[in-house]
Amino acid sequence: MKTSKGRNVVVVGTQWGDEGKGKLVDWLTESANGVVRFQGGHNAGHTLVINGVKTALHLIPSGIMRPGVKCYIGNGVVLSVGKLFEEIEGLEKAGVQVRDRLRVSEACPLILPFHQALDVAREAAREQGGVQKIGTTGKGIGPAYEDKIARRALRVQDLKHPERFAAKLRELLNLHNHILVNVLGSRNFDFGAGLAPYMLDGEVQFDAVYGEAMRHAELLKPMIADVSRELNEAHAAGGNLLFEGAQGTLLDVDHGTYPYVTSSNCVAGNAAAGAGVGPGLLHYILGITKAYCTRVGGGPFPTELEWEKEGTPGWIMSTVGAEKGVTTGRSRRCGWFDAALLKRSAQINGLSGLCITKLDVLDGIEELQLCVGYELDGVKIDLLPLGADDIERCKPIYESIPGWTESTVGVTEYAKLPVNARRYLDRIAEVTGVPIAMVSTSPDRDHTILMHDPYSAA
Ligand code: GDP
Ligand code: IMO
Ligand code: MG
Repeated sequence: MKTSKGRNVVVVGTQWGDEGKGKLVDWLTESANGVVRFQGGHNAGHTLVINGVKTALHLIPSGIMRPGVKCYIGNGVVLSVGKLFEEIEGLEKAGVQVRDRLRVSEACPLILPFHQALDVAREAAREQGGVQKIGTTGKGIGPAYEDKIARRALRVQDLKHPERFAAKLRELLNLHNHILVNVLGSRNFDFGAGLAPYMLDGEVQFDAVYGEAMRHAELLKPMIADVSRELNEAHAAGGNLLFEGAQGTLLDVDHGTYPYVTSSNCVAGNAAAGAGVGPGLLHYILGITKAYCTRVGGGPFPTELEWEKEGTPGWIMSTVGAEKGVTTGRSRRCGWFDAALLKRSAQINGLSGLCITKLDVLDGIEELQLCVGYELDGVKIDLLPLGADDIERCKPIYESIPGWTESTVGVTEYAKLPVNARRYLDRIAEVTGVPIAMVSTSPDRDHTILMHDPYSAA
């Protein structure tokens, strides 16, 4: 083994997800030997556009489109093996080799059909009880993390031991079927076609789940690995790694708009715990930031705009930005850039630099508004507060910035951006206190401006 050490970059979303992480991870992996997902599950939807061809990834790291790059699913990810194989087969049909390059941590908790049943039934119960839905993706993410934290989850390593798996599964089903039937009223609930094969009379059936899990186990076995060990070895051998965040900082279970959040830590610090490396190996934290804001699902959004009315700035963001969820197809809510939110995000992640995406979407908007702080209970503040209750009461304070009429689509040099676009970017860097390292000007891999290479040590 060589003694040289590689350089590692963490990519995180700084807003409410869908900032364009997938595009940038794909772009950056030209300089990386391995890409690792460290949290979330198939609630993520990361879009890559290469030579006009679109690929949507949910679980497989966005390095998979670069031949030779290794991809890892770290212990912090909650794994649906069925969804993983759907994705692998889709990529293989498109000619992308996956199985010999993908390593899956044996410590990943599994998402099983009862997690999804609990997720959808709970959302329905909230609605029926007059409580605002979280607006989850309905993939079972929250219930799977609950089992992990409660120390009763079935993990990838259990798939290698059928009897152990069966015993743990029986115990879990006893608990969850009790909740489904007696608390959530699952006997009268329509779970839809996806869950129908597993359910009878409101209960999830042991045989259906067990049989499928054992079939999945055979497929997964060649990819099961000690990911922590492999990452540390790759680093020690001089390989560059990329840690690919899913969701975004404001969806983080501790730091986000709680309770309208996902159930994992999406922030950079969790890259270490969720992959099994020491925090000292996280050398550069790149915050991916849309040039405006979007959010899908429920919860507060201080700079939200009316986005359904034709011709309005919100409508331009929604239509030109094609703001529809990759995972659920829901429309994303749209609003002005929020620098006070970004300051919070910069603080929690320890951002080294920003990558501003979708600048092109703002082309032609006459005047842009930049939120620089809020008024909360008559007091001016310049940092997003913690949790939904306070955030809901924040009234944004805006600064007007003139827009630009020129097209920025496909621009690859900073100097070639319209002067007002550069002013907008400079102001974002100034207010947030984080330098801009990169700018993205279209969905395409190559339409990216590089001002500072996160992989350069300088
Ligand atoms: P992720 O979840 O952070 O990976 O982001 P998504 O893939 O869910 O959403 C970002 C969307 O914006 C995708 O459809 C991308 O193809 C697209 N996109 C990324 N960067 C740009 C950009 O600079 N300009 C435009 N117009 N679209 C972009
Ligand atoms: P990527 O990686 C945007 C949102 C859901 C919901 C909340 C909780 O593509 O940026 P969950 O199913 O996780 O329990 O839902 O989190 N959410 C996302 N929003 N992008 C994502 O991922 C998301 N993953 C979850 O809409 O509001
Ligand atoms: Mg997405």
